[in-house]
Amino acid sequence: MSETAETLAPAQAEKKRESPSEGDPGFLWDFWYPALRSGEIRGEKLAKAMLLEIPLVLGRTREGKAFAMRDSCPHRGIPLSYGRFDGTTVECSYHGWRFDACSGHCVEIPSLTSQDKLKVERVFAGHFPCQERDGYVWVYMNAPGTRLPETIPPAPALATFSEEYKITHLSCDLPSHIDHGIIGLMDPAHGPFVHQSWFWRSRHSIHDKEKRFEPIPYGFRMSPHSPSSNSAPYQLLKKMTGEGVTTTIDFVLPNLRLEEIHSGRLWFSSRATVTPVRRDLCRIDFVAAWNVKLLPVPVFRIFGKTFLRQDQRTMVQQAEGLKHNPKLMLIDDADRPAKWYFALKANLLESRRTGEAMRHPMDGPVTLRWRS
Ligand code: FES
Ligand SMILES: [Fe+2]
Repeated sequence: MSETAETLAPAQAEKKRESPSEGDPGFLWDFWYPALRSGEIRGEKLAKAMLLEIPLVLGRTREGKAFAMRDSCPHRGIPLSYGRFDGTTVECSYHGWRFDACSGHCVEIPSLTSQDKLKVERVFAGHFPCQERDGYVWVYMNAPGTRLPETIPPAPALATFSEEYKITHLSCDLPSHIDHGIIGLMDPAHGPFVHQSWFWRSRHSIHDKEKRFEPIPYGFRMSPHSPSSNSAPYQLLKKMTGEGVTTTIDFVLPNLRLEEIHSGRLWFSSRATVTPVRRDLCRIDFVAAWNVKLLPVPVFRIFGKTFLRQDQRTMVQQAEGLKHNPKLMLIDDADRPAKWYFALKANLLESRRTGEAMRHPMDGPVTLRWRS
């Protein structure tokens, strides 16, 4: 009975956080987030993006380095993306102030006379660390009004296991708060209902599952296991190598789902991130790489798109229901990953607040059971 109360609590807390207009939008700052695809910044073109409700202008210097600035001139706030970029500096369209694209440093204020005392080099446009990995431009979103830490970790990179491989990217927008995007991504029980496809599985293949999970830094891992016997692609892989198939799935804060599948020499690796754009909009970016020769990129993309579209349709429908602020539930064991996510997030914020080490919500490995 206390179970009911306990299971309701996180959902309630979450709902409070999520009330769209006021309050804390529930974002996790001081992490890398993918802003756009590398190919979207070419030549002297400026591109716009939004992460965690911060408008960004991105581009690439003449030397090929990607940069990200706050899309707002520090003078009067006009978006810098209306300005001009010459390969080194961004010139504001309003009064022509120029900023070094990589540092945000102001290098020229055309209206100043030799009499003026304003120190141009003391003026900065907002800017963020920027790195390219796996075909994405990642931006390190440090919290507004805070200093960048001395050292920041490198942006995430997709694990690959041979010299040669194929790689492809997919993305889709979800009209959802980041938390719903993530618990939807990690949700083990929607498969038979949302992802019914001839090539994947039918809803009648639902059966008991038992998976071991273990704590990892900032997240949890579904321990290496042989994947579901009701999914055709795994069966095929097994036939090709004649060896067992193992898969490992990690969730890591703030928003990464990492999956590795191995069978003999063959491997498949993927990463899905759910990135908050605004409090009512997030985006899934999915990248997959593999060395299975028999799996051509276009074929994989057809399957991948079908999957994403199924999830997207569900999230659109869910958003329709959430408008009316319903009470929500998290049940055992199928919603345990969602509970871990909320606890990880809360414990991280708490450790940042107190300066103490982050407490992991899991004491050790646990086995969860559900039907899907
Ligand atoms: S608003 Fe940008 S230079 Fe004045
Ligand atoms: Fe799904």
